[in-house]
Amino acid sequence: MIREGFRNFRLASARWLNDSTLWLTFDSDIEAEPGQFVMAWLPGVGEKPFSIAGMAPFSLMVVDVGPFSHALHQLQPGDKVWIKGPLGHGFQVEGDNLLLVGGGYGSAPLLALAHDARTKSAKVTACLGARTAEGLLLGKDFADLGCQVEFMTEDGSAGRQGLITLAVEEILATGEVDLLAACGPTGMLSALAGLARQYHVPSQLSWEAQMRCGMGLCGSCEVPQSLDPALPPGWLACFDGPVFNKDKD
Ligand SMILES: Cc1cc2nc3c(=O)[nH]c(=O)nc-3n(C[C@H](O)[C@H](O)[C@H](O)COP(=O)(O)OP(=O)(O)OC[C@H]3O[C@@H](n4cnc5c(N)ncnc54)[C@H](O)[C@@H]3O)c2cc1C
Ligand code: FES
Repeated sequence: MIREGFRNFRLASARWLNDSTLWLTFDSDIEAEPGQFVMAWLPGVGEKPFSIAGMAPFSLMVVDVGPFSHALHQLQPGDKVWIKGPLGHGFQVEGDNLLLVGGGYGSAPLLALAHDARTKSAKVTACLGARTAEGLLLGKDFADLGCQVEFMTEDGSAGRQGLITLAVEEILATGEVDLLAACGPTGMLSALAGLARQYHVPSQLSWEAQMRCGMGLCGSCEVPQSLDPALPPGWLACFDGPVFNKDKD
């Protein structure tokens, strides 16, 4: 069965990043902005959005948490996945000194942004946060791009102990950051939106929401203004975002 707007990619290889996360590399490239996403479809299983983790070759970073992600984890080299995209609006490199903040699989789209920024010789600090050391993803990949990497874990098992916002606030307080870009859980993004306002720093935050159509038709991915008062009413993660680009206040 072929669905309109979808094309197939074949799995080339899979690499474990931790007990529950695979980096899946496919057999072709995709042209996209960092932060854009795709709808991935497996016939008989369903369809879900995923950030584009790599473009050349096309790659996804998938955490095994439920039926769809589990099915992606079962793919073998040569197996097909159907992809629609790239979709939505991504991150843009702005300024010479970027602070990237990733929680969980949010570090995947930020790695592509770090790559673009380093190509333009921008200074990049990547703050990666998780509950435990096991949840910290892609630290070496950011370091290999020449980024300064700061780790925070809630239990102190890697890097400094505490919430990622602690490290972010210290860095914003230096007054040297031109852009705060982040992807991760909505609670983390809400806190970062507040810090960006407080320190008058432009921000690009990638918001997540339940998606069905992925193209602005069904309204299921509206992001509530309560998460960030700067978000316009009726703002749709799939169509207006997922990245919300906010000039400094
Ligand atoms: C724009 C966008 C980009 C996304 N990018 C990625 C990505 O790069 N990688 C990725 O793995 N997922 C990504 N997701 C989430 C993905 O679309 C699915 O929601 C996820 O794979 C779970 O689907 P499922 O059917 O396996 O489990 P579901 O049955 O949908 O979820 C099972 C349970 O796990 C919870 N859950 C969902 N995701 C996570 C998670 N990451 N960690 C812990 N608990 C979770 C759900 O709330 C639910 O309670 C993205 C979502 C959006 C909207
Ligand atoms: S998922 Fe349908 S409007 Fe965004």
